[in-house]
Amino acid sequence: KNEITIGLLGFGVVGGGVATILHDHQDDLSYKLGVPVKIKKVLVKDTTKKRDTALAPETFTTDYDAIIDDPSIDLIVEVMGGTTEAKQAIERALRAGKGVVTANKDVMAESGFELLKLADENKCDLFYEASVGGGIPLIRTLEDGLASDRIRALTGIVNGTTNFILTKMKLEKKTYEEALAEATELGFAESDPSADVDGIDAARKMVILASLAFSTEVHMDDVFVRGMDVIQDGDLELAEHFGYTVKMAGSAKKDEDGIEVAVEPVFIQNSHPLASVNNEFNAVYVYGDAVGETMFYGPGAGSLPTATSVTGDVIAACRNLLLGVNGKRVHAPQFTCEVKNDSQ
Ligand code: HSE
Repeated sequence: KNEITIGLLGFGVVGGGVATILHDHQDDLSYKLGVPVKIKKVLVKDTTKKRDTALAPETFTTDYDAIIDDPSIDLIVEVMGGTTEAKQAIERALRAGKGVVTANKDVMAESGFELLKLADENKCDLFYEASVGGGIPLIRTLEDGLASDRIRALTGIVNGTTNFILTKMKLEKKTYEEALAEATELGFAESDPSADVDGIDAARKMVILASLAFSTEVHMDDVFVRGMDVIQDGDLELAEHFGYTVKMAGSAKKDEDGIEVAVEPVFIQNSHPLASVNNEFNAVYVYGDAVGETMFYGPGAGSLPTATSVTGDVIAACRNLLLGVNGKRVHAPQFTCEVKNDSQ
């Protein structure tokens, strides 16, 4: 192979970031991989829309068939978001023998196990680093870096929008509405921000993290979820008065009785590092038998940080393609473990 070609599905906040990184860092990528990586086609809803991009106008198409049936396209990068259409696009790509990189936490939380199985059956890679924690490499850390450890618990801030809102309300005394509008303007919020503020987006991310951390299948209905609406007037000030900060936090823990996963607003003591994770930043604390306590911190949303995780996956998939080991994975047997959800 003397180059790798990509079909990009979606050109929103993340898709635009992926195109920027692949363009601006093209020399670095070619150097690291030994071949250039190019975007050949981009699937969009409207090809006439004005876009600030170095990609040629003819790159844009509304026809997915033109991408999936193009034998010269090696890899599909799905950053269109949503569920049904995105899932179908991923399935079609895998069935066509093309590896997939996705940032789609909705699809991975709902159908990740099924899609990873489909990827295996079709001997394709399916990578999803950007689905959790924006620019923080959490998935690979759990899959590889901490793989030898027995993880007991993880707790963290995994939604940038709610953290941004709470930070602006606390430090700049903005109203909830003002802060949410700003998070939307900056491209952090979901297209329907109720997924952020109701805790659903964070629950999806906790499903992905807990499944990896505990090598088992955790599903959305296993997660106890309470949204930001339970925060009452005066709670933020009360927390401040007693030396605490209100955060939307996800937690997952495993003991001899099973696994518990939750997302809810909590009071965190100001001396804890999670209390000073501000704005759209995310952080995840992992407690392992051998490693002890370790925290991963970084931007949890936004165009270039999220696109960094996507393009990191692109490099991993390209390496596998170049080595001819794409779709080859060693599978650990999944543990079966009771998931407790008594509190709901
Ligand atoms: N809406 C999400 C967030 C985007 O605010 O965290 C990144 O997944």
